[in-house]
Amino acid sequence: MKVLITGGAGYIGSTVCSALKDRGHTPIILDSLVTGRREFANRHAFYKGDIADTTLLEKIFSEHPDIKCTIHCAALIVVPESVKNPFAYYMENVTKSIILFKKLAELGCKQVVFSSSAAIYDIVPGFMVTEQAPIKPQSPYSRSKFMMEMVLEDFCGAYDMKGIALRYFNPIGADPQMRTGLQIQFPSHVLGKLVEVAGAREKVFKITGTDWPTRDGSGIRDYIHVWDLALAHVKAVDNFERAFDKADPSNGSYLVINIGTGNGVTVKELVSAFEMVYGAQINKELAPPREGDVAGAYANADAAKKLLDWASQLSIEKGIADALKWDEIRSSIIQYQ
Ligand SMILES: NC(=O)c1ccc[n+]([C@@H]2O[C@H](COP(=O)([O-])OP(=O)(O)OC[C@H]3O[C@@H](n4cnc5c(N)ncnc54)[C@H](O)[C@@H]3O)[C@@H](O)[C@H]2O)c1
Repeated sequence: MKVLITGGAGYIGSTVCSALKDRGHTPIILDSLVTGRREFANRHAFYKGDIADTTLLEKIFSEHPDIKCTIHCAALIVVPESVKNPFAYYMENVTKSIILFKKLAELGCKQVVFSSSAAIYDIVPGFMVTEQAPIKPQSPYSRSKFMMEMVLEDFCGAYDMKGIALRYFNPIGADPQMRTGLQIQFPSHVLGKLVEVAGAREKVFKITGTDWPTRDGSGIRDYIHVWDLALAHVKAVDNFERAFDKADPSNGSYLVINIGTGNGVTVKELVSAFEMVYGAQINKELAPPREGDVAGAYANADAAKKLLDWASQLSIEKGIADALKWDEIRSSIIQYQ
């Protein structure tokens, strides 16, 4: 099956492309390369451009009229940047996605899988969230994700579309075959920072927030191997109609599904796992929480099992090992200026 992947030159989109291709599908990438890499995109059919370029979308669909489904990964994703520049985030992630979804409906591509985020959840006692858990997005970035979930739901109701919003938890690692991985040079998330310290590009790893009501006081997350995350998209594409057949009919033509492992791991536990896989202690210190930090959440992943027949397979240690391996080979794949 041909599948359009917006943001297919990025970290997650490029992994999704490899997973689709390995299972016999044909990914077609639309990406502006604002943060994505040509080295990743060139592995597949690739159109360089903006998701809101409707003329380009017409061209893509005239050249590939058999595209059945769109996976919409393209977005800006840096939370602090979204706080400083909400205009850019609402423009890129909301306004342009609305134009994209409307054009997809007009072009007859009525199956949409949307990259949403667990960052939209409120904190709940015990930290495990089902898809029905309360929503409280805390930044322009996460609000842009929740807005697009609502838009997609309304479009599905009005324009004869079907949509599945996948709420990702915390992706780690790289393609196990090392075709792609995290492309940004200065990562801001926790595993990226650990790799930076191990690679001696940063002096010390700060465990930010040590008084949260978790088992050891550090924040809790659900770290999912990016390959498992990519396979969830393959399942969503393969089982698209079946998911709706299995879901409660009250969901109508729009579904929300958590994509996580179902295991909560604290930052201190992640650091211990990292040191075990890395084979040495790293330089670390305790620090107060950063502005906007929260205690965290982990997934109840039952709906993914029931509706998509998907569950994560790879361990956190495998995610760490693949992140370290990618860090070693990245400069042989990506030519930074
Ligand atoms: N990485 C995470 O931790 C995480 C967690 C939850 C959800 N998500 C979601 O997953 C998706 C992919 O994230 P990622 O980590 O791969 O980010 P990324 O920055 O690596 O990839 C995003 C891609 O979208 C492209 N892009 C951005 N705006 C575009 C536009 N207007 N037109 C065309 N292309 C555009 C970029 O060039 C890039 O290749 C995003 O929607 C993000 O919100 C990511």
